[in-house]
Amino acid sequence: MNSSETHDVLVIGSGAAGLTLALRLADRARIAVICKGELNQGSTYYAQGGIAAVLDEQDTEDDHVTDTLAAGAQLCHDDAVRFTVGNSRAGIEWLVSQGVEFSRYADNDSFHLTREGGHSHRRIIHAADATGRAVSEALTSQALQADSINIFQRHVAVDLVIRNGRCHGAYVFDRDSGHVRLFRAKFVVLASGGASKAYLYTSNPDGASGDGIAMAWRAGCRVANLEFNQFHPTCLYHPKAKSFLITEAIRGEGGKLLLPNGERFMHRYHELGELAPRDVVARAIDHEMKRLGSDCVYLDISHKSADFLLHHFPTVKARCLELGIDITREPIPVVPAAHYTCGGVMVDLKGQTDIDKLFAIGESSFTGLHGANRMASNSLLECIVFGRSAAEAIAQRLDEPLLDVRIPEWDESQVTDSDEDVVISHNWDELRRFMWDYVGIVRTNKRLQRALHRVELLQQEIREYYSNYKVSNDLIELRNLAMVSELIIRSALLRKESRGLHYTLDYPDMLPEALDTILDPGHRPRKAQNLA
Ligand code: FAD
Ligand code: SIN
Repeated sequence: MNSSETHDVLVIGSGAAGLTLALRLADRARIAVICKGELNQGSTYYAQGGIAAVLDEQDTEDDHVTDTLAAGAQLCHDDAVRFTVGNSRAGIEWLVSQGVEFSRYADNDSFHLTREGGHSHRRIIHAADATGRAVSEALTSQALQADSINIFQRHVAVDLVIRNGRCHGAYVFDRDSGHVRLFRAKFVVLASGGASKAYLYTSNPDGASGDGIAMAWRAGCRVANLEFNQFHPTCLYHPKAKSFLITEAIRGEGGKLLLPNGERFMHRYHELGELAPRDVVARAIDHEMKRLGSDCVYLDISHKSADFLLHHFPTVKARCLELGIDITREPIPVVPAAHYTCGGVMVDLKGQTDIDKLFAIGESSFTGLHGANRMASNSLLECIVFGRSAAEAIAQRLDEPLLDVRIPEWDESQVTDSDEDVVISHNWDELRRFMWDYVGIVRTNKRLQRALHRVELLQQEIREYYSNYKVSNDLIELRNLAMVSELIIRSALLRKESRGLHYTLDYPDMLPEALDTILDPGHRPRKAQNLA
């Protein structure tokens, strides 16, 4: 028996973006927060380096804006950058008020600020090297205490419900009961994170399958700049280390990148050396690994004292030690891996999408902040700033009534249980491998065309599978990942230049004019499958 849920606001995602929005509205609205697994299983929890904000007296908003624009290769939207940076201090103050404990200097109790690539100042506030955990635990604890926030863990949004150009809720798969229920709401917020699971090697946790981007696209929203998938330069290279990041703050504190023979190389690629913007560092490592035929390069911070490393990088130190690498004595083997989705669902400065009553915030959205390459630690900042601005926009409309539209329950009478789950896991593997091989750090038209062909075939199979079998978490994610992969490839094919994270051997130069790649589904609300 399927029973529907009704709230003022349905928030899809419990990371920094979703929980900020929910908490900002908690005193005036009834909110449902849904998430695919446990509350803290998104990328937020794993964030290491910190949050960029203008907090130091020597720093200025203009400098933060200038650095962001430069890292973004002239493609950032000036208004989004100024808006985000201008709200950075207030965002951090709010996090502190929610109980986030950031690292402080031992001698004067002020916040310790670290450096990362592209930043001209020490500007990154952090909680040692586990900033995401500190943010996630504080916000989760607040959300669990708020009576007006109902949390639904292990609930997966399948598709949005759109009628007459408005969003009325979503169909949501309950992983424990195995059924899909209708969640109705006056406002729906996509806070569902990025899509880096499209790649074989990624720093992201399972679940980063671009669900929000795919749902919004199917619903009729424009998406932008999806070709700019960021590869983090330094993920741990070890057969037993799944998705473990080595924070950029290690380079901020003097870590050196080395070739297998111990030689430094970054100065050959950029005047900022190891602290060049991320796209430059990842490309340099990729180039050196291919040139030398090596499996990895090395990151060395062993010149710092053991005390310093324990104090600043306890998580990295402990994880490496578990795998037999003592960072106080030896360099860390590292490789680039897919890390962040710079493009996403197009929104304005309030997180409003193309569809009325539908908002998108955090990594699933495209605000214009990141341009062709996100500057380190600007992502959590964006989550906090846009979580607040979207909450304020919704707050002003909360007295609008729930619209009286008949929406059918999910119909699964025509589908059966699958007896071939191997098809799903095979398609997952195939998709992620060709995305890595053909749509990775260095691209060509030929490889992109090959990937497009493969993804179209996969999409056909997935559509057939989706129409015939009951949904499962894996199937929902595969369907979305394939959809977003197609959008990434199509966006990459449209960009006839190399800019920021998009580097193609066919067009190695940057064009004089910086333009976004906007894909438009034609604003046709599509009928979701399985609807009566
Ligand atoms: P997430 O935190 O990813 O949360 C997504 C939520 O959506 C989850 O709750 C998930 O369950 C839910 N969800 C997804 N799909 C569905 C669905 N279909 N139905 C229901 N729920 C769904 N950025 C920084 O600024 N500083 C850093 O130091 C930093 N370090 C990082 C380190 C790592 C290892 C990683 C992976 C990322 C890092 N980033 C960092 C990036 C940053 O953490 C993310 O961009 C940010 O946390 C995204 O937050 P979010 O709220 O948008 O999504
Ligand atoms: C890191 O700690 O290196 C990640 C920072 C980020 O992705 O912004």
